[in-house]
Amino acid sequence: MLWSRKFRSPVEDVGNSHKSVFGFQKNGGKERVAVPRVPAGRTEMAFVRTVKVDEVPPGTIRELQVEGTTIALANVEGKFYAINNVCLHRGGPLGQGPLGGRNVTCPWHAWQYDVTTGRTLQNPAVGVDCYPTEVRGQDVFVDIASERLER
Ligand code: FES
Repeated sequence: MLWSRKFRSPVEDVGNSHKSVFGFQKNGGKERVAVPRVPAGRTEMAFVRTVKVDEVPPGTIRELQVEGTTIALANVEGKFYAINNVCLHRGGPLGQGPLGGRNVTCPWHAWQYDVTTGRTLQNPAVGVDCYPTEVRGQDVFVDIASERLER
């Protein structure tokens, strides 16, 4: 089934597959699943479905577009962490870097980030946004509207 371009959002896989329509997303290409929407200026958590658990195996990281923001979603020993994908140095794509334990290395100039906090290893006083994640069934949800505050 083709989806009109003007209806695409909030989740797009940078590499392939996931497209969505208004508050709905394709689920394995067969059904549409409602996604909660909260207006701009919201204060409550607004988790958005992203990928299936098995699409990001333990020890891997990948880029995803969620509501217009590119994130890097990492699986560290079965637990998911989401950080902003844009390296603070010169904008390198963190989701394309190697993940070692809980640390991802920027593929451009090797700055390292702790995916559990978003902080850089070289200077923990700074870091990228880190977003809450939640697994519901076989789906990974991310709330990009609620930057994690405990940095
Ligand atoms: S752009 Fe990431 S280390 Fe330079």
